[in-house]
Amino acid sequence: MFNKIVIAFVSVLTATSIPHVSADDDLRARNDAIIVRAIERMEGYDFRTDNHVIAALSRHLERVAGTQEYLDLAKRFRPDGMENQLLELIVSGPTDSVKSESAELLLQTDNGPKRISDLLRSENQIKASKACQTLGLLGNDLARGLLTELIQVPEVSFEIRKQAVVGLSKNGAGQNTILKLVTDDQFPAEMRLLAGGLLARSNNENIRERSSRLLPQPQQKNAAPIAPIDQLAGMKGDIVAGKKLFEGVATCSNCHIINRIGKEVGPDLSEIGSKLSREAMYTAILDPSAGISHNYENFSVLTLDGQVISGLKVSDTDKEVVIRTAEAIDRKISQDEIELVKKSDKSIMPENLHHAFDQQGLVNLVEYMVSLTKK
Ligand code: HEC
Repeated sequence: MFNKIVIAFVSVLTATSIPHVSADDDLRARNDAIIVRAIERMEGYDFRTDNHVIAALSRHLERVAGTQEYLDLAKRFRPDGMENQLLELIVSGPTDSVKSESAELLLQTDNGPKRISDLLRSENQIKASKACQTLGLLGNDLARGLLTELIQVPEVSFEIRKQAVVGLSKNGAGQNTILKLVTDDQFPAEMRLLAGGLLARSNNENIRERSSRLLPQPQQKNAAPIAPIDQLAGMKGDIVAGKKLFEGVATCSNCHIINRIGKEVGPDLSEIGSKLSREAMYTAILDPSAGISHNYENFSVLTLDGQVISGLKVSDTDKEVVIRTAEAIDRKISQDEIELVKKSDKSIMPENLHHAFDQQGLVNLVEYMVSLTKK
């Protein structure tokens, strides 16, 4: 009975033809809203049976795009084309719950998981990062699956994968997923330090205990703990003190050039602030073997007379192999003196460099490196 009255009412409204004059836009908007309110209350009513209602609803949806109301209507009516609107809401919805409910709704559609997965890999890092955060809030199986996939794609930037790890770490199931990946050797090395720092703060004792074994955190020289890197990244350092450390007791200049000062064993760091985020910088120092790039693979050469020479392979010809040692010396070894050449999975950059200074020193050092941006 109620439905019949409403349908009659709706058909009166939709039959009222409104000319395309801007003064009447308000009236049309008001009518559309009334129609939408009416059909919302009609249980089991299929709005797709009436073209006027379809048009009214779609105009109304356009007006409320980007709001909680859009989401509520999308949940109720699943209008055509809602995927694009929901993607927008996932990235910039007005509240966390609108964001995560939009993701939940989109994940229920046929194409949804693929659309979200594309968004996570988008060139637009800000959008991708926000989408990652939303999936972290959602925390269901599908969301967890997408984040888990993402952290294993090496082409995806450190920043986005960091968001994915943070997202996973937000609940027990995600924390278990991380530990399972670590156990199965599927967890990316350059994310281990970050993940260990996050899981050390889990409210589940069992997870904290497993994490301390599988993802041990670095310590200071006196065995005092170092803050997890996501917290270090929020601390402020002293650039001048950092520069002094870099060129002095920290020995970084023995291997890195900054503005033409230093030796060239590792990469030139003159513009490192434009390349790495703070978290990535802390990871590079505290866990140097985590992300060895192709150009800096560390080799050990065993000679026939039993010497071992380790360092970067500068060249490898029929005649000789040239190895640059950690002291920045190029050693030439003739091919017929070589017994064995072996690639190491450890970086030539030493572990525990941070034992030469305290936590504040580390923060100063990173502050200095962050300041080294492209001119
Ligand atoms: C014995 C040589 C050596 C010393 C000493 C050393 N590094 Fe390195 N560093 C390297 C090498 C080699 C790489 C490239 C490693 C790789 O890809 O694994 C590297 C990589 C890095 C990176 C990453 C660069 C990039 O482009 O991703 C940073 C940042 C860095 N080092 C900072 C430091 C700081 C800070 C210190 C001093 C506390 C230091 N390094 C001391 C050899 C060294």
